[in-house]
Amino acid sequence: MNNSYIDMITQGDCHNFLGDIDNESIDLFLSDIPYGICLDDWDVLHSNTNSALLGQSPAQLGKSGFKRRGKPINGWSQADRNIGSEYREWCGTWGALVFPKMKKGASLFVFSGRRTIHQVINAFEDIGFLLKDMLAWKKPSAHHRAQRVSIVYDRRGMGDAAHKWEGWRLGNLAPIFEPIAWFVKPYKIGGTIADNILENEVGAMNVDECLINGSSPTNLLEFDYRTNEKRIHEAQKPLSLIEFLIKLTTKDGQIILDPFMGSGTTAVAAKRLNRHFIGFEIDSSFCASASVRLQDEVTTGEYPAEIKPLKLSLFERQEKYSANKSLKQMRKKPRPA
Ligand SMILES: C[S@@+](CC[C@H](N)C(=O)[O-])C[C@H]1O[C@@H](n2cnc3c(N)ncnc32)[C@H](O)[C@@H]1O
Repeated sequence: MNNSYIDMITQGDCHNFLGDIDNESIDLFLSDIPYGICLDDWDVLHSNTNSALLGQSPAQLGKSGFKRRGKPINGWSQADRNIGSEYREWCGTWGALVFPKMKKGASLFVFSGRRTIHQVINAFEDIGFLLKDMLAWKKPSAHHRAQRVSIVYDRRGMGDAAHKWEGWRLGNLAPIFEPIAWFVKPYKIGGTIADNILENEVGAMNVDECLINGSSPTNLLEFDYRTNEKRIHEAQKPLSLIEFLIKLTTKDGQIILDPFMGSGTTAVAAKRLNRHFIGFEIDSSFCASASVRLQDEVTTGEYPAEIKPLKLSLFERQEKYSANKSLKQMRKKPRPA
């Protein structure tokens, strides 16, 4: 069934399609899933209809900074407190559909919110995935507001309290990183990881292809958007970050699954790196924009100026091939007699 979905972004709820994918055919799952923090309509993954969600209460209307995440985390009702478990249940429904589709030993990179990633981890561990590591994407900047407590008391006419709490603030430190949970699907009991790599071609890291300034990468990933990178989604991730994760864990021609495509970053990165992808997006307008973006950035080769297209000319390919070949020959150690 993979032929019906390969290398295109299919519009609709991924729950309706994931079951159709061929079992044990996916080499990498890479998805920036909805974080369940009510960032937008598509991120409300619970049955709570409190009017303050998405900034709809009378107190929030017209206040842009307060608009979206307009609720305190400790919640105002039992329904607010159920948001976490309902989000976990939602992760469990599509996660269980993904499990049989992954090759044994394959990696899964799941982007998530700092306050909600534990729900994803619990859901995925219940399904049978193993948590391998936690990566952090260090963002280029962080939108930050932390209100001064003294100002609140001043507004209330409480001069003494304002003086006492001078310098103290409400809120969090600037949110400069986003976590990425790195899972693996367990391989055969009784086998070794090295055997599994030979059998399924997944499970190892291509560190040499992913050096950062000549050094091995760490699990703190600092990637920025490139100049001219088209931004069409509120939660869009930098192409260079997604390309890094793909290069780290897959080879040419392998298949990457992203059921929550948004602006299509995973699709663009996969095609630029000569991999295949399967992608879904529920929102018809995002889906249409993502497909146009894919067409622009890959098929017609319209890359932002500073990005070198990966589609090499025949001459360049031959040069690269000979260079790799001589490098391999140089590295070959003489066999012991
Ligand atoms: C965090 S965004 C992805 C952004 C993406 N990484 C990018 O770079 O543009 C998550 C996307 O998942 C989509 N989505 C939410 N629920 C979905 C579902 N059940 N099936 C398919 N897509 C869904 C949303 O519409 C949203 O565009």
